[in-house]
Amino acid sequence: MNRELKLAVIGAGYWGPNLVRNISEAPGADIVAVADLDAGRLESMRKRFPAVRMTQDHRTILADPDVDAVCIATPISTHRRLAEEAFAAGKHVFVEKPLAGTVADAVAIDEAARRAERTLMVGHTFVYNPAVTAVRELLVRGELGTVQYIDSQRVNLGLHQFDFNVLWDLGPHDVSITLYWLDEEPRWVQCIGGSYIQGGIEDVVFLTMGFPSGAIAHAHLSWLAPSKNRIMTVIGSRKMAVYDDVQAVEKVKVYDQGVDRLDSDELRRSYRAGDISSPRVPITEALQVEIRHFLARIRDGAEPYSGGTAGVRVVRVLDAASRSLKQGGVRVDYAAPAAARA
Ligand SMILES: NC(=O)c1ccc[n+]([C@@H]2O[C@H](COP(=O)([O-])OP(=O)(O)OC[C@H]3O[C@@H](n4cnc5c(N)ncnc54)[C@H](O)[C@@H]3O)[C@@H](O)[C@H]2O)c1
Repeated sequence: MNRELKLAVIGAGYWGPNLVRNISEAPGADIVAVADLDAGRLESMRKRFPAVRMTQDHRTILADPDVDAVCIATPISTHRRLAEEAFAAGKHVFVEKPLAGTVADAVAIDEAARRAERTLMVGHTFVYNPAVTAVRELLVRGELGTVQYIDSQRVNLGLHQFDFNVLWDLGPHDVSITLYWLDEEPRWVQCIGGSYIQGGIEDVVFLTMGFPSGAIAHAHLSWLAPSKNRIMTVIGSRKMAVYDDVQAVEKVKVYDQGVDRLDSDELRRSYRAGDISSPRVPITEALQVEIRHFLARIRDGAEPYSGGTAGVRVVRVLDAASRSLKQGGVRVDYAAPAAARA
């Protein structure tokens, strides 16, 4: 299939326009239509993309046989219905993160994709971020040794959501990156949090995941913080790495630091404080890498990195974390039955 693929985007709120721009810039793809319920949002999109068809009814897009694939960038609670309709119409589907708000909905979307024999990709943008890929390469090469723990901070002031808490808004990023780096699913999940601005919707959570390898990953997620931090630290048995997404250059730094020998005699402890290096990271927008990956997987039919399997895993972790949060932070078995509603 070497012809140009025709794509449409459903949802032109905060994030949808980024998808539209990146599709319009990707080789081998053409953005042909955008749907949004809100006429005002379509009007501002029309000014930026005058050649693209705008509609308030996404069904006109699904009925168009020329459209190969749709990207869904609508609120989480609408993902299942829209994705199932799109697969039933024979389209390939890209669903923004998280795949759905419940495990049942995520599994249903994955199954609909398999039944329709169409590509399903989830918008876990960060696994396409060249800095995140660079850390994964360090891990695969064994340069950091065995991962002992990961600590991350994804905090800023806003944007408060009204239907889901900060765990479901920012958590998909840290969870998808962590699973991608560690290449394993957690054994248990623990989460505490607080709702300070809107009753019942947590604006800060502290999420911890324990893995079969012995690694622990901790993420501090917040819409209520004085500055924007996007920093993840990986402590390996050989070296340590820091990925700081807010930095313009040297987003990844590798510290040749650790403890070489430790025994009860204080004088015989040996801490190593070696060189700090920074791997070359290509300056490419993650969303452009992500869209090109979607196009390539439509063409070759292989499962995307962030396909249905990865999308369902992330929702399972968020679901387990939600159950822990509701029970005051008890450790929840990752494999235990899912909650009915996030
Ligand atoms: N990958 C990322 O880094 C990233 C960043 C931000 C948001 N997101 C995800 O993108 C999705 C959308 O988030 P947002 O912040 O843009 O939300 P938003 O509320 O700003 O925009 C959603 C838009 O969808 C439209 N919409 C709702 N139902 C529709 C329907 N049936 N047909 C057509 N349009 C419909 C709304 O009118 C609105 O304009 C969410 O899943 C969110 O988690 C991903």
